[in-house]
Amino acid sequence: MKIISLVSSYRTNGNTSRIAELIENYLLSIAKTKRIDLEIERVQIGHCNINTCRGCRVCFDKGEELCPLKDDLLSIRDKIREADGILAASPVYVEDVNGIMKNWLDRMAFNCHRPAYAGKVAYIVTTSGAGASNHTINTIKNAFTTWGISIAGQKKFRTGGLMDFIEMQAKYGSDCKNIASTLFDTMKRNLVIKPSLYSLIAFKIQQLSWQKSSRSHDNIDYKYWQKNRWLEKDCNYYLPNNTNVLKIKFARMIGSILAMFLI
Ligand SMILES: Cc1cc2nc3c(=O)[nH]c(=O)nc-3n(C[C@H](O)[C@H](O)[C@H](O)COP(=O)(O)O)c2cc1C
Repeated sequence: MKIISLVSSYRTNGNTSRIAELIENYLLSIAKTKRIDLEIERVQIGHCNINTCRGCRVCFDKGEELCPLKDDLLSIRDKIREADGILAASPVYVEDVNGIMKNWLDRMAFNCHRPAYAGKVAYIVTTSGAGASNHTINTIKNAFTTWGISIAGQKKFRTGGLMDFIEMQAKYGSDCKNIASTLFDTMKRNLVIKPSLYSLIAFKIQQLSWQKSSRSHDNIDYKYWQKNRWLEKDCNYYLPNNTNVLKIKFARMIGSILAMFLI
């Protein structure tokens, strides 16, 4: 199994990196106990070469391969493609993700049109000075869900300006252990996909949007959805799943109602 640990703090020895390190260590020890091969790759996105999105829409209209910004973005996209799980960690800046995370999400926005990560599982963590709302978590969660990623859980850590690693371990060690165990177990169980209600609704809205699309069927997004057979009437999610029929019906009904206002 492979996990990408995506940390958006520039500080490689800051709170967010330290929390990620604690979780990574617990993940490795769980894998060792269970005799399962686990590779964890840390991607410190602030130290990667990722230029600011210019909003040219080339990734939407022609494909991300043609993005005029030639940098590390596509290699990170590919690392996530090859991974089973993602640990996403951001510091809270002004009640939201930091700019590094936001720019990375913006650059990855083509996944909102062509979700390529169905079947992946993510755990989202944030660190903040004095305590923060769910806004930061939701920024990452909403993007990931739209990209097809299942959310195993989320956790906010209050760490002040810089928390000593020993103090952090004493205060948050058991939380980090629980996060590691939840992420690990969800990754293993994810062989049978159980999309959340939110994910099913988001899928339905997207599906209706592409089905109704008056744009040419040569459109790259339309072709992508068609190739994946996601436009077929009885398709209810990116992957086959064993979701309760009533939950699917409910999600499709809510999705259809919301689509009337959104599309
Ligand atoms: C520019 C900036 C903005 C911040 N905004 C908030 C905030 O809105 N709420 C909060 O609780 N902490 C805020 N903080 C504190 C950080 O979220 C906190 O110290 C975090 O753990 C830093 O993570 P790091 O050490 O990985 O960079 C801010 C820090 C910075 C540098």
